[in-house]
Amino acid sequence: MFVRNAWYIAAVEDELGTQPLARKILGEDIVLWRKSDGMPAAIEDRCCHRNLPLSLGRLEGDHIRCGYHGFLFDSKGVVIEIPGQSTIPEKAFVKTYPVVERWKWVWIWLGDAALADPAKIPNMFWADHPEWKFTKCMPVPLACNYHLVCDNVLDATHLTYVHPTTIGAMSLVEFDPVIKQTEESLRVERWILDRPPPPSYKKAGGFPGNVDRFACIEYWTPNVCVNYGNNYDAGCGGTDGDPSKSAHKVELVALSIPTPETETTCHYFFAFARTFGFDDPQVEEFFSRGMVTVFEEDFPILQAQQKRISAYPGATQVDTRNDVGVNRARRMLQRKLDMEQSETRAAAE
Ligand code: FES
Ligand SMILES: [Fe+2]
Repeated sequence: MFVRNAWYIAAVEDELGTQPLARKILGEDIVLWRKSDGMPAAIEDRCCHRNLPLSLGRLEGDHIRCGYHGFLFDSKGVVIEIPGQSTIPEKAFVKTYPVVERWKWVWIWLGDAALADPAKIPNMFWADHPEWKFTKCMPVPLACNYHLVCDNVLDATHLTYVHPTTIGAMSLVEFDPVIKQTEESLRVERWILDRPPPPSYKKAGGFPGNVDRFACIEYWTPNVCVNYGNNYDAGCGGTDGDPSKSAHKVELVALSIPTPETETTCHYFFAFARTFGFDDPQVEEFFSRGMVTVFEEDFPILQAQQKRISAYPGATQVDTRNDVGVNRARRMLQRKLDMEQSETRAAAE
């Protein structure tokens, strides 16, 4: 079950070019491409003649031609040419989807098209802001439900065990999180004071001693996770500190925005933004490769979890006090799903 009235990332901007891109999203097979004016297009990836995936065809200008008997579809999914006949049946069309390119990603709407307002696309200003350097990564296919990724990001206590040699630190569970919640978003904040920097941050920031670390995760339903990781020289952070006095700093934002593919698979879109080391190749390397390596440490965990969840549906799970963020996010998601379904039922009556 997915929230449908939401913008999901369908592709990284560079994935759309002169070849059709096939992508399954929320269980639907979709073909995407870029038109000659640069705008993205997305229609059902199934020919209405004899069901060949249209992504196996070829692009002709703004249109896509089926690779079996040559039906030509426009970017709204309507057949505009059938080889060998001049009439086009009324039912010769496939589904079309609203798509918008923003923040270096292509966003798609699979719900009620009348509600597809681009103003509802999450604000990812870091992608275009001169004070931030943005590093976006290619999507990673994961064999797990998309929300396991959100759960993972929302629960920073796993860093100790999954990322001990990179961004983990034993001190995380010592500091209770502060939870802030609105109708659509949740923040799980922690100041970790006067502790050794995690290995990766020590390398990136060159910290000579302990750090004050702000670990904050923001979640927006149904699937956007923004992870703020700010590290300052010890004494400069905390609620009373002044980070501008810190001689060393690592301020970064990690965006985790998994798009559901099916109930048990997802496309993991992620990116990093930072305020330092714009022209430093070592820092760039850390963000384009080092942080990806950190994320890769989570993938086997998430996929192994999904295997057990699929094998033992409804099995008992126990909670700890550190699960409060994850559990609240899950409840927010469920509320949104329930609301959407009751609205859909009401509209059908
Ligand atoms: S299957 Fe597409 S034109 Fe025949
Ligand atoms: Fe992780």
